Amino acid sequence: MKVLVTGGLGFIGSHTIVELQQKGIEVVVIDNLSNSSLAVLDGIENISGIRPYFEQLDLRDKPAVFSFFESQNNIDGVIHFAASKAVGESVENPLLYYENNINTLVYVLQALEKYNISNFIFSSSCTVYGQADVLPITENAPIKKAESPYGNTKQIGEEIIQDTCKISSNLNAISLRYFNPIGAHSSAEIGELPIGVPQNLVPFIMQTAIGVRKELSVFGNDYPTTDGTCVRDYIHVVDLAKAHVLAIERLVNNKNTSNYETYNIGTGKGSTVLEVINSFEKISNTSLSYSFAPRRSGDVVEAYADNRKVSSDLGWKAESSLDDAMLSAWNWENKLKNKS
Ligand SMILES: NC(=O)c1ccc[n+]([C@@H]2O[C@H](COP(=O)([O-])OP(=O)(O)OC[C@H]3O[C@@H](n4cnc5c(N)ncnc54)[C@H](O)[C@@H]3O)[C@@H](O)[C@H]2O)c1
Repeated sequence: MKVLVTGGLGFIGSHTIVELQQKGIEVVVIDNLSNSSLAVLDGIENISGIRPYFEQLDLRDKPAVFSFFESQNNIDGVIHFAASKAVGESVENPLLYYENNINTLVYVLQALEKYNISNFIFSSSCTVYGQADVLPITENAPIKKAESPYGNTKQIGEEIIQDTCKISSNLNAISLRYFNPIGAHSSAEIGELPIGVPQNLVPFIMQTAIGVRKELSVFGNDYPTTDGTCVRDYIHVVDLAKAHVLAIERLVNNKNTSNYETYNIGTGKGSTVLEVINSFEKISNTSLSYSFAPRRSGDVVEAYADNRKVSSDLGWKAESSLDDAMLSAWNWENKLKNKS
């Protein structure tokens, strides 16, 4: 099997490449390095022993996208990670997000059609559910109005794929709705590389603990949850990567029951911000500097996955605990510090 991974040098893409390679699947990679670096290829090679074929290409360049597909033979499927993902930046610059997350998706789907490639996995997000009315969240939960242009690109992206599947007998697609990916590879060869001030909790914890940030702000401690802080479903990035391998195998082996499917990828367990901080303090044997700040607008109170569908259809379940994920992220952060 040969799979194209777009955005493959990013956080989730790089871990997925390693899992694909470990299953004997050939991988080719596109990335424009807007949020990653070439050094990630070394990390991948250090783990798997294989350096995947890589092209530095911007998927907004439609002719370049088509030339890439023209030059490649026998691609069985595409896993499309490439996108911009900073929620705050998407509010500041919505057109950049619509261009980068929507135009690129359309070009890739057009190339699949032209080059007769059937199998497509899309990186979606639990953000499409907003604050769900019922927890845990099933795939049938209503899609709520997006809180940001970024979230909207995931909703529109899913609709574009679904509309294309309706009229294409050749296309088979799966949208994976990720909950909150965290952690790093156990080898500490690859991990998350936030550019600028991290927007997500775990990278912020790591940078605070390592001394890059002074203090973590916990936004809101008066929510209706066990300790007043927000609840999320934190999933180890390697578990998430493995879900992609199962999803692409499902399509390539014609095991799908409809030509457009959606799956939640989460552990099924919610953790509060304070539980994440406690987990970090336990695994690192350090104490984290944090204080409470007012609630942040747009934050949902609580989100965790009902993962029964992915478990029964793909045979997937999360294997790592929150502590495992925090430890892997901490090892990665220390490695980054030692390198710099
Ligand atoms: N990390 C999360 O919390 C999360 C949660 C839900 C969904 N997602 C989605 O998963 C996907 C991967 O996320 P990630 O955390 O690995 O992000 P990332 O930024 O680490 O990886 C994305 C990669 O895509 C590349 N890229 C961006 N625009 C490109 C373009 N026009 N052409 C070629 N390459 C381009 C970037 O350089 C980067 O390497 C994204 O679609 C993201 O929206 C992420």
